Amino acid sequence: MTALTLSTAGVAKLRADVIVVGVAKGAKGPVVAPGAEAVDQAFDGKLGTVLETLGAVGGEGEVTKLPAPSGLKTPVVLAVGLGSAPGKGETYGSEALRRAAGVAARSLPGVKKAAFALPVETPEGIAAVAEGALLGAYAFTVYQGGEKNAQRGDRGPKQPLAEIALLGTKPRDKAHKAAAERAIALTEELNRARDLVNTPPNDLTPEAFAAVATAAGKDHGIKVQVLDETALAKGGYGGILGVGKGSENPPRLVKLAYTHPDAKKTLALVGKGITYDSGGISLKPAGHNETMKCDMSGAAAVFAAVVTAARLGLRVNVTGWLALAENMPSGSATRPGDVLRMYSGKTVEVLNTDAEGRLVLADALTRASEENPDAIVDVATLTGAMMLALGNRTFGIMANDDAFRTSIHEIAEEVGEASWPMPLPADLRKGMDSPTADIANMGERMGGGLVAGLFLKEFVGEGITWAHLDIAGPAFHEGAPYGYTPKGGTGSSVRTLVRLAERTASGDLG
Ligand code: BES
Ligand code: MN
Ligand code: ZN
Repeated sequence: MTALTLSTAGVAKLRADVIVVGVAKGAKGPVVAPGAEAVDQAFDGKLGTVLETLGAVGGEGEVTKLPAPSGLKTPVVLAVGLGSAPGKGETYGSEALRRAAGVAARSLPGVKKAAFALPVETPEGIAAVAEGALLGAYAFTVYQGGEKNAQRGDRGPKQPLAEIALLGTKPRDKAHKAAAERAIALTEELNRARDLVNTPPNDLTPEAFAAVATAAGKDHGIKVQVLDETALAKGGYGGILGVGKGSENPPRLVKLAYTHPDAKKTLALVGKGITYDSGGISLKPAGHNETMKCDMSGAAAVFAAVVTAARLGLRVNVTGWLALAENMPSGSATRPGDVLRMYSGKTVEVLNTDAEGRLVLADALTRASEENPDAIVDVATLTGAMMLALGNRTFGIMANDDAFRTSIHEIAEEVGEASWPMPLPADLRKGMDSPTADIANMGERMGGGLVAGLFLKEFVGEGITWAHLDIAGPAFHEGAPYGYTPKGGTGSSVRTLVRLAERTASGDLG
């Protein structure tokens, strides 16, 4: 895990392996960003010119490494592109800083210590650079570098950048310290969500996930309750059991309750936790199942958000519900045509066993509603249709309350997560009419993401404010890494959920 400290150290005395500076696209070529003045001086004020000669323009994602001049104790300078330089009187945006810091940290695997000399005059700047750097330094290497190679010491994967110092900050300033501490807690938990997503499904079974939650609960003073398959049967959780019954790895429903003695509000978070989605009897074809370990990303995000809320000691109650099951085909699996009696008492005709997420979520939503929270947000890699609509980087937001949907969209924007509000058109409901049961788990193909949202809506308690985030697109990144986003699990929606909890705590929401 990468460590981060605030530092007032001057560049001339600083001991680090690399010093990171920012370079932006100016009207007349690359310009060195604020924070790097002393480094520029060590280059006799010619760092911008040197970078230009090396071909740097300051574009997003650009990395230029160069040897440091003799005035610096640090042997290497890394200039990272920030995109367009801000206009007069404007400052660098948080997302530009976050991404640039992420690119820099990601470009330094195997390095011990890097000092970041980026524009961090404000607590927001510190938060952005710290978040970006700590998220960018992430690597998932637990399954690499087998014993023989590790002993030879020549083949194992490089470990991520070990230590980051943010220069130009005040370690004793309350606001500076708070910004760094929040970023550390948030990114540690977000990176842990990424680890859970990346952990192969033969190791991360519902039972194993529940054990991770139980252990984290002990560490952070969160009350954790786990319903195993016997308790689920006793409780009548037909949705979760119906999805899990084809697997050798039985399902779980995990409740994590973080409470604050002075809390005025309670936020409930519900996560889809399909540890592997084969599609079940409606088996997915090859080409569609290779990344389906990511189908527990919603549960991972909820888990990370609850733990972060606890670590930050937020003045709000946050309850997390992880609906964990493995969707597999077997002689004991639910068949297309089966009818499940859900926890709510409603019956569902399962027309397609690959529409399993809504089944486990329905039970968890009903259960969460029983405790009458002020709001419920569910998070799920729910539909391929949402990816067709919004692409791979944007999650869809549906809700039974326009103001709440708008708030979540604005919060997501503020923390640097791409999202878009989506409707729940009432006319799509009739497509789920079933001749046999109260509702079918599938409806019209067109607007499939919205159909899924309409299904979930029926399991939310009367009068409870609810939103549904379909993160099927952004949860798992298959392309080349960019900014602070690695390949694989991304931790999508964690930052939005944490900021939502903070907003709920401070009372500026609903
Ligand atoms: N987990 C999938 C959705 C998904 C697809 C997530 C690709 C991430 C990447 C979900 O369980 C699913 O299979 N949905 C079906 C629903 C359909 C059968 C109504 C889909 O979207 O095709
Ligand atoms: Mn599925
Ligand atoms: Zn699924």
